[in-house]
Amino acid sequence: MLKKIIVMLPGDGIGPEVIRAAAGILRECAHEFGHHFDLPEYPLGGAAIDAKGVPLPAETLEACQKANAVLLGAVGGPRWDAQPVGNRPESGLLALRQELGLYVNVRPVRLHQPLRAISPLKHDRLGGLDIEIVRELAGGMYFGERGSQQISGGERAFDTESYSTPEVERIAAFAYARAENRSRRLTSVDKANVLISSQLWRRTVTSMSQLYPSVRLEHLYVDNAAMQLVLRPEQFDVILTSNMFGDILSDEAAALVGSIGLLPSASFGTGTPLFEPIHGSAPQLAGKEAANPIGAILSVAMMLRDTFGLGIEADWIERSLERVLAAGYRTPDIAEPAGRVVGTSHFAEILRQEMQLTLEHAGRYGWGV
Ligand code: IPM
Ligand code: MG
Repeated sequence: MLKKIIVMLPGDGIGPEVIRAAAGILRECAHEFGHHFDLPEYPLGGAAIDAKGVPLPAETLEACQKANAVLLGAVGGPRWDAQPVGNRPESGLLALRQELGLYVNVRPVRLHQPLRAISPLKHDRLGGLDIEIVRELAGGMYFGERGSQQISGGERAFDTESYSTPEVERIAAFAYARAENRSRRLTSVDKANVLISSQLWRRTVTSMSQLYPSVRLEHLYVDNAAMQLVLRPEQFDVILTSNMFGDILSDEAAALVGSIGLLPSASFGTGTPLFEPIHGSAPQLAGKEAANPIGAILSVAMMLRDTFGLGIEADWIERSLERVLAAGYRTPDIAEPAGRVVGTSHFAEILRQEMQLTLEHAGRYGWGV
């Protein structure tokens, strides 16, 4: 029996809907396995700007710092577009990542067999796509020196990409360790033919390879990596890359498996770990029961497995989800002609029922089903 505090940050747009769905699954786990999960909710992003005037209120940060884990929906929306960069919903999320010392962001990209047909890639190219993107989360252009100034003829604005040896080492160590536990292939993605910061990145990652003799290291320039992802995604196992390149490549990889709504993520570092789907707030879908809760639900599974050591519970969620997809249930973003399209909360309810069935089945026949 575990007792945990998991702070919920629904955020904006479809964030509250996917978090409601994922929280229901967490409660189901707590109920069936006798855990006690406290799930307090706090505002972040646009919701926090509206309620408190800032995108990351002090109470929200403090609650996250004291919690065992954080589950986040999404932030942002056109309502707050006029806000300056430092006071946008997104800066609340970036400040939270920074305050919690989260420098690792893991984004697993796995093909769900029942969804093969909705991939935009031809079947023979898809293979058994199973990639883990390890994105640096606390440095690079997101947090570099920036500014703007008036010049003759208008204005100049700049953002800087910068990485230090220790920053590269800590994220690379994480990626090497992940690769050791998977297919032992590590692809480091950079732009070392143009950027000095990428040259340091490449040198540092290369010099660490002797510590991980079983891992086969390869380097790719980011433009080539983007192309290889659509040409032959199966060549990838663990992809290690910077904050900015990781942001871009993970959206691309998400499209390969059918929808950005499917991808979960986990962020680790020195403070409380944070779990969030990789999708945005999709304001045009908000309140329409059209959001895909799978990214948020799989983020919960990552939390249970990676942070709380609850592998059985995580397997339970993931296997039940595969069955729900195999039975043809689809949210609108992954709709298929023969599928049964259901809304966000309905999908979560079907999953909960399937989890019940799986549990009864496991109780009778064991987990090997
Ligand atoms: C993501 C998002 C965020 C990012 C935005 C909302 C700040 O795109 O998590 O991928 O760029 O990191
Ligand atoms: Mg992104």
